[in-house]
Amino acid sequence: MRRIFLFLTASVLLGSCTNAPGGNGVELLDDEAFRTEIDGRQTGLYTLCNDNGMTVQITNYGARIVALWVPSADGVFRDVVWGFEKIGDYIASTDNYCGPIVGRYGNRIGKGRFTLDGREHRLTINNGENHLHGGSGGFECRVWEAEEFSSPEGDPALALSYRSPDGEEGYPGNLDITVTYTLTRNNELKIDYSATTDAPTVLNPTSHVYYNLHGTTARSTDSHLLTIHASRFTPTDAGLIPTGELLEVEGTPLDFRTPRTIGERIDDRSYEPLRFGNGYDHNWVLDNYRPHEIAPAAELYEPATGIRMRILTDQPGLQFYAGQGMDGRETGKRGDRHAFRTGIALETQNFPDAPNHPNFPSAVLRPGEVYSQHTVYAFETDK
Ligand code: BGC
Repeated sequence: MRRIFLFLTASVLLGSCTNAPGGNGVELLDDEAFRTEIDGRQTGLYTLCNDNGMTVQITNYGARIVALWVPSADGVFRDVVWGFEKIGDYIASTDNYCGPIVGRYGNRIGKGRFTLDGREHRLTINNGENHLHGGSGGFECRVWEAEEFSSPEGDPALALSYRSPDGEEGYPGNLDITVTYTLTRNNELKIDYSATTDAPTVLNPTSHVYYNLHGTTARSTDSHLLTIHASRFTPTDAGLIPTGELLEVEGTPLDFRTPRTIGERIDDRSYEPLRFGNGYDHNWVLDNYRPHEIAPAAELYEPATGIRMRILTDQPGLQFYAGQGMDGRETGKRGDRHAFRTGIALETQNFPDAPNHPNFPSAVLRPGEVYSQHTVYAFETDK
């Protein structure tokens, strides 16, 4: 019965996407181009849209957002995320982190080691001498089980589930994780995470999407105005591993408490943290953090398109990475080159390397507990 209901719901949802208001500029990617088999599992493309025409396309390969069409101030819709037009391009790309859920641990764990309950665990080293985004075989390259449904409020949603087996990339415990994307009638993309384990482990999944509110990488993200509701950040060593301190942003180029363009201070190499990151690649300590309460974290705004994205989360940290590692060698949707500082990641998360810093919020998940994270990306225009 449930299956029939889901099938009907999915058909209605897909139907409404096909009937989305015409002439708004939305160009859907082709489902067929995302069908293949990886590790014996079927990949595909899932399309959610609301009555306003806002549309998100997601593949279950890495639980990955591949397109996100939002209205701009002139009424034309723009696709504000990086992505590729077919699954083969994702597999071939040297950038594993274009749009997926990353984990088990988003961002770095120093030297890929941590001790839990007196036992040391060693993780895959895939970033210098450190572990990044769950290792070389993290969530981003796994095929997740997908189920489309309607949220209790009647909004289109997609639940993606993955079992990460005990020992994967060095992490203890069989971990069951579900990430649900919901597109609301208020032009919000909600990302809800839940996970359980059968042995003590650590977990810090996040969404690793590259945003460009111009809707094209022909324009740099340096012009975006960014606000981060954070008075402190976690400084790092040259390998981007936190020292354990929390430093005030006051008087530094990391002060985004009032809107500033990304480009204004990013090249200030007199400031050591910007030298280490080669620009912005830091974790901000969110002022509004209260465990399990969703609160405003950041805002991104592009004056040329009038698109504003507000981020709300119940997480303690936000990693802002300004896309300085990109060199334009790869070409994505509509011929857009993935070029230097043309896409930024804003990752809601626990602090990097928290398992090695007792003063950071705990990232430990034990049997019987349920990990949860709720993050909202809300889109508006200034008209
Ligand atoms: C990290 C960067 C890294 C990038 C990879 C970001 O989350 O902070 O250091 O280069 O992911 O795409």
